[in-house]
Amino acid sequence: MRMPGTAPEWLFLLLALVGGVTAAVSSLRLLRYLALCLRRPRDLRRRYGAWAVVTGPTSGIGRSVALELARRGLNLVLLDIDAANLRETSDTIRSRHAVKTRTLVFDLSLVATPQGDESMRRLRAAIDGLDVGLLVNNAGMANPFLAYFHEADVEAWLRMVRVNLWALTEVAAAVLPGMVERGRGAVLNMGSASSEGMPSFPLNTIYASTKKYVAVFSRSLYVEYRSKGIDVQCQAPMFVATRIVPNILRDKWYLSPLLSTTADAYARAAVRWIGHGAICNPNLSHQLQRCLLAIVPEAALDWCLLQFVRRLRAESRGVLARVGAVGNGTDRKNSM
Ligand SMILES: NC(=O)c1ccc[n+]([C@@H]2O[C@H](COP(=O)([O-])OP(=O)(O)OC[C@H]3O[C@@H](n4cnc5c(N)ncnc54)[C@H](OP(=O)(O)O)[C@@H]3O)[C@@H](O)[C@H]2O)c1
Ligand SMILES: *[C@@H]1O[C@H](CO)[C@@H](O)[C@H](O)[C@H]1NC(C)=O
Ligand SMILES: *[C@@H]1O[C@H](CO)[C@@H](O)[C@H](O)[C@H]1NC(C)=O
Repeated sequence: MRMPGTAPEWLFLLLALVGGVTAAVSSLRLLRYLALCLRRPRDLRRRYGAWAVVTGPTSGIGRSVALELARRGLNLVLLDIDAANLRETSDTIRSRHAVKTRTLVFDLSLVATPQGDESMRRLRAAIDGLDVGLLVNNAGMANPFLAYFHEADVEAWLRMVRVNLWALTEVAAAVLPGMVERGRGAVLNMGSASSEGMPSFPLNTIYASTKKYVAVFSRSLYVEYRSKGIDVQCQAPMFVATRIVPNILRDKWYLSPLLSTTADAYARAAVRWIGHGAICNPNLSHQLQRCLLAIVPEAALDWCLLQFVRRLRAESRGVLARVGAVGNGTDRKNSM
């Protein structure tokens, strides 16, 4: 007999079951993670091919990944917007590792314009006849940052959509046919936890949406091309201390070494994970954060995230506006 006003037994059983299954899944994920850390890393060159194409290799994650791939003996096709930065990166790589490099100046925000089409042609020519085993679609931007959708400058978010989503797609389309022909290859598309680990990313809506595209795009390609010997993957990191994270955020607790990682540390783990699953979060600290977030109800996370970005915005308003990283909307009072 149940006392009036108390919950029925089956409810407790159900909750225990849900809790048990959730805990089991999280533990399995962690076990898989640890197993991968202990295994010897794959020989990427033997498995996929001698060359890798890396977009956005002149700073942050892309630069560290390019260096790590060179350390593993892969030749590199480096694609970025600025010729001088590219030259510096290429020289640094070749001074440290005995690999070949090719560079390609390409403003990815111009894809699907005549100038962008011309750059795509140069990319196809640059990889023609090369044994490209790996594509790292890393270039990305997060500007406008912390802006309400209605405030954000259309030009700015259009550029972001072009770089984060459209260019990533076109570059994949240029590289994949060769992989299909050779029957082997791997693609790493850089997504973000803003669309995978969290239910929303308010005031960064377009950024998170472009990253959701990256995740869905990668997952479907993963299914499409697995039987053709091509491993497509989306990596969805939490905070990595790079230029994309505005300076003003640098001394915050969530960018402390405990929660965020350096680009070099991230890259070491990222390269190890290539070819292991459709979506992943290579850094252990990031993975743990994700497991923790997964047990918080989404509505509660939505609320926390909104408070968090609003506070951040209030604190950083002046600085971000000066670097043009936020919208300069008219109803600031309403939107705070
Ligand atoms: N840092 C994080 O916390 C974090 C978290 C999740 C996901 N991500 C993702 O990781 C990727 C790398 O970001 P990051 O943190 O390393 O930032 P970053 O240091 O700003 O690096 C971005 C790279 O992309 C290049 N790039 C930007 N716009 C371009 C364009 N129009 N044409 C060609 N190249 C362009 C940049 O070139 P220039 O240097 O010449 O401008 C730079 O090499 C991005 O896709 C980002 O969304 C980062
Ligand atoms: C994760 O990042 C932290 C901080 O940069 C680093 O110390 C650690 O080695 C990384 N762990 C893995 C497994 O990548
Ligand atoms: C603010 O908006 C005006 C008009 O829309 C625009 O001309 C200006 O460049 C913007 N400034 C910044 C910093 O975004």
